[in-house]
Amino acid sequence: MTIRPILTVPNPVLKQRSKPVAKVTDETRALMDDMLETMYDAPGIGLAAVQVGVPLNIIVMDLGKPNAKNGNSEDTEDGEDREPNPQYFINPEILELVEEQKPYEEGCLSVPDVFDEVERSIRVKLRYLDYNGKEVVEWAEGLYAVCIQHEMDHLNGVLFIDYLSRLKRKRAVKKVQKAEKLKEDA
Ligand code: NI
Repeated sequence: MTIRPILTVPNPVLKQRSKPVAKVTDETRALMDDMLETMYDAPGIGLAAVQVGVPLNIIVMDLGKPNAKNGNSEDTEDGEDREPNPQYFINPEILELVEEQKPYEEGCLSVPDVFDEVERSIRVKLRYLDYNGKEVVEWAEGLYAVCIQHEMDHLNGVLFIDYLSRLKRKRAVKKVQKAEKLKEDA
């Protein structure tokens, strides 16, 4: 497994529309293994393949799994008190979503250190292929629903800052560019 560099805004690759995976192979799994390691290293809770420069409809996520210590507590953002629970989504589709929306403060590994509220459906019905290429249909809610909608936006070249005002979006991109430049100069 390899940690791959994560693309940040305003890299034009992030605006690209990803393509479906024709067949789930060992190569697909190797990519997902790399993506998961890259995500854990960042650290983050979700990553789309396009964020490591591979425009394919693939997402990895880990929202953690409640452990004995915190029982069935509500969604924790950082997953700190949770057991690892990697999830893999190949060619995900949203089959249904409920009208009710809720704001949630989102962030993105491609827009580091920027956080803002985005409204999303509180429940979505998904269809996707898992790590082994097996079809799964299920409802997502809570943080799972938020995260999968955020990640699926990446597959369409949409970032969470695209939902913000023009001014906030500009400011976010500038902030990231400035931080990247500092890193380069260091
Ligand atoms: Ni993101």
